[in-house]
Amino acid sequence: MNKPTITTESGRYFLTDRIREEVNFRTTPQSRGVRPPPVQKPIPANSRIIPLPSRDSWCIPQSDLQTAIANRESHRQFTTESISLEELAFLLWATQGVRTVFHEAAVLRTVPSAGCRHPFETYLAVFRVAGLEPGLYRYLPVDHALVHERDIPNLSAHLTAACRGQAFAGQAAVTFIWTAVTARTEWRYAEASYKVIALDAGHVCQNLYLACEAIGCGTCAIAAYNQSLADELVAVDGNEEFTVYIAPVGKVPERSGMADR
Ligand SMILES: Cc1cc2nc3c(=O)[nH]c(=O)nc-3n(C[C@H](O)[C@H](O)[C@H](O)COP(=O)(O)O)c2cc1C
Repeated sequence: MNKPTITTESGRYFLTDRIREEVNFRTTPQSRGVRPPPVQKPIPANSRIIPLPSRDSWCIPQSDLQTAIANRESHRQFTTESISLEELAFLLWATQGVRTVFHEAAVLRTVPSAGCRHPFETYLAVFRVAGLEPGLYRYLPVDHALVHERDIPNLSAHLTAACRGQAFAGQAAVTFIWTAVTARTEWRYAEASYKVIALDAGHVCQNLYLACEAIGCGTCAIAAYNQSLADELVAVDGNEEFTVYIAPVGKVPERSGMADR
């Protein structure tokens, strides 16, 4: 990816919607009749697939939305407890779960996405999830399952380095690493994709915060990461697909309040 010059002017411009006045929507891949990219990356042959408990089978207690919103805060300290596979399934459903499948390139999820394009993949650096060996996994939203990507020796140290030394990323029970497959959004919005992809990511992470509140877990959004190390960790090319957001999750001590700031 070439490095453009970003100035205050261009940065502020990016946050406006002026780009929509400039894009020729008659020439987008969608308008040219190109097939949309699939909503989920393919599963490599001979992969280990781990089915996840579904919403109608899990025992996650119902929670009070007002309480979750009122209590939401960033957590950077976690206990050494594991989270259950059900709890992980709940967090994945809350952040990227599929509600309706129209076809392989169009699904509705538990989060909104501009033009329903859903550009994200969810990678998991698993440290303490009951029933899962530590390692790197990827969520398969359409199948509501995990695919084991690979084992990574010294995963905690690599992840901490990828998060610019923010050690809590490697001390979590599981750390969510979201990448963007920008072609999914570019198919409809071309150059008008990038601001809405950033907005989409916020919805995903906010759902993670609220879902964590519901099960005695905590998380903290991480946008200060090392792009190359993060992309290397999840083995993406850094161009067609690249890391956009990271969120470590773990059980938290009873209401930590301002203590960890
Ligand atoms: C886009 C974004 C990026 C963030 N990046 C980091 C980060 O890299 N490291 C960190 O410790 N906290 C990060 N945070 C968490 C904020 O510091 C935190 O939300 C803020 O201090 C307010 O605290 P609260 O979430 O507990 O209300 C980020 C939050 C957002 C929304």
